[in-house]
Amino acid sequence: MERAKAWTIPATLTTTFELDYAVDAPDLRRLYENAKRDQWNASKDIAWSTPPAPDGRIIADELVDIYGSPLWDALSEADKVQLNRRIAAYRLGVLMYGEQGAMLACSQMVDLVEGTDHKFFQATQVMDEARHNEVLKRYIAERLDDLSYPMPRNEVELFESILGETRWYLKTIALQLVAETFAVSLFKLMAESARDPVLGEVCRRILGDESRHMGFGMLSLPDVVKNATPQERTELEDYTCYALEKTLTGFFPLEPYRDLGFTKAQIDEVRRYRRETAARNDYAPFRKYFKREMHGSMVTNLARLGLLTDRVRPRLEAIGVKLPA
Ligand SMILES: [Fe+2]
Ligand SMILES: [Fe+2]
Repeated sequence: MERAKAWTIPATLTTTFELDYAVDAPDLRRLYENAKRDQWNASKDIAWSTPPAPDGRIIADELVDIYGSPLWDALSEADKVQLNRRIAAYRLGVLMYGEQGAMLACSQMVDLVEGTDHKFFQATQVMDEARHNEVLKRYIAERLDDLSYPMPRNEVELFESILGETRWYLKTIALQLVAETFAVSLFKLMAESARDPVLGEVCRRILGDESRHMGFGMLSLPDVVKNATPQERTELEDYTCYALEKTLTGFFPLEPYRDLGFTKAQIDEVRRYRRETAARNDYAPFRKYFKREMHGSMVTNLARLGLLTDRVRPRLEAIGVKLPA
């Protein structure tokens, strides 16, 4: 039965029951050991009682798309604070939904992957993502008056695709290498620029777990790529592009602007300002850092795995991803 706050995604999985528990992939077993060692607990390890910023800001104003534009300058101080809080709630909401999606995808991967080391590691990621989902929900509830926005369409589509997919390595490409690299860059940006000290702490805690998750992708995929037929290679490259397109486009925070009473014409102006800033690459320093950081790590990793080839260059350029020559 569909509930108002849940939806169902049909998926068929083949479960592999392992009977050999000897260490077979030492690098993954090391990640598993690290995961057990580094578990933290949002109920105890976050200083929830730390006072918020006196002016109520959550993130740096530079992270609001229209910062520095005439639209921004025209806002009252109270509206600037409101927009700051609402944009933060929107972005953290996108991340929180992503944590739920990651938890579900990894729980499927526990079944799908072969080898005990792979399964053990995925089991730790299920727990990591549950803790991330929990901590972000608590943050939004306690520090942002439980302000929640719906999951963006692109995010829904991406996770429907990941969760409906039967092959683990396609899930890994889209989740651990594309979506999580995007999330890591956003968490880093927010950790660096947080105005609310609790947000900085939450982001840093989450980041401590995320490098393991990308590590799984980087350790497990080379064999898949190496052994793929030419036809399978094409499929891997196309799925990588699909995940990049969904992740890098379409998270426009429409609702926060609406809440502030922006008219349709003003929202069109916001969109135009965003596009022009992107085209000129003329972001405020924090956003430049985000772009450099994300493209640096994501494109480098995907290219190193051989998933970004000249064949897909035009498709990537259309979404602003430049391949190294
Ligand atoms: Fe996570
Ligand atoms: Fe993760």
